[in-house]
Amino acid sequence: MKVVVLPGDGIGPEITAQAMRVLGEIAPGAETEQRLFGAQAIRETGTPLPDDTVAACLAADAVLKGPIGDPEFDAADVRPEQGLLRLRAELGVYANLRPSRADGIDLLIVRELVGGLYYGASGVRDDGSAFDTCEYSPAQIERIVRRGFELARSRGGRLTSVDKANVLETSRLWRRVVRGLAPDYPDVAVEDMLIDNAAMQLATAPGQFDVIVTENMFGDILSDLAAAVTGGLGLAPSASLSDTGPGLFEPVHGSAPDIAGQGIANPAGMLLSMALLLEHGLGRPGEAAGLAAAVERAIVEAPTPDLGGQASTEEFGDTVLSALAVHI
Ligand code: NAD
Ligand code: IPM
Ligand code: MN
Repeated sequence: MKVVVLPGDGIGPEITAQAMRVLGEIAPGAETEQRLFGAQAIRETGTPLPDDTVAACLAADAVLKGPIGDPEFDAADVRPEQGLLRLRAELGVYANLRPSRADGIDLLIVRELVGGLYYGASGVRDDGSAFDTCEYSPAQIERIVRRGFELARSRGGRLTSVDKANVLETSRLWRRVVRGLAPDYPDVAVEDMLIDNAAMQLATAPGQFDVIVTENMFGDILSDLAAAVTGGLGLAPSASLSDTGPGLFEPVHGSAPDIAGQGIANPAGMLLSMALLLEHGLGRPGEAAGLAAAVERAIVEAPTPDLGGQASTEEFGDTVLSALAVHI
């Protein structure tokens, strides 16, 4: 088993260190290989995603990634985020699973990850105007919507497809594809919901949702919101999957430059991403459940400042490690 580890920027290396401690405990046989990615890679090589990092990721069983991004490059031509979009495309990880749980809430956002506004033609014209284009093919929509239906079938049997069909052509295509596929999943109750209403419903009545399937940018925004209503951004994990190759596992949050270097970042989202890696990437659901339970315990016993506590990143990790001894 080979896991490529991309620690990333800002709080990335701090939370990755805790994930490495935990992986060493749970799967001592797993081989890990650290690679350069993000702002640090730009500083050292001039590009956010060096070719040898891509090659290592493609050859791995799974990729564990910390957040990337640094204010230093926000206005630069070469930016860390460009490397992330390229990595997702190289791995073909079109299905981004972003689960959120809390009392009375158990929802899963299935975000399309390699199309739409993030990947369409874009540019700045001579007159100073700028443009980004949103495009989807029926096949791109079908594969992600099928994932949504299948995941709904394996959970609560309800699928909400989120779009902006009252304005966007791509959303009207999205709806037609959803309607065309629905007869294949008679056991799933499917509804369409407009993105603006979906944001309001998520903020006020998140318990109504089971699986939400949506395009790339709507999923980006809704997943931060879903994290916020279920305990905070520091807790939210994600799994990005293709049909065949290695998956990419990363927290939903960013590099949090405002708290980087202070040793107080919450490593829960990263550790829960590793639980998803154990489950989906290495086929070890038992260890994944044990790790998730240990993280739940640390949230209660050693909360970091974002959760209202005072524990450091390392103390949170210590608590996870001692809880693991009980759960595994
Ligand atoms: P952010 O998610 O980094 O931070 C938003 C707020 O949440 C901040 O106040 C931060 O301190 C807090 N926060 C986030 N994660 C936390 C954690 N684990 N523990 C405690 N507090 C936490 O969003 P931002 O500030 O808008 O973005 C910063 C940088 O991160 C940008 O460069 C952006 O592009 C990048 N980013 C990267 C990813 C990724 O690599 N997948 C995701 C989102 C943002
Ligand atoms: C995320 C992030 C990324 C995205 C950025 C950093 C490109 O916000 O993973 O949610 O928008 O996909
Ligand atoms: Mn995001």
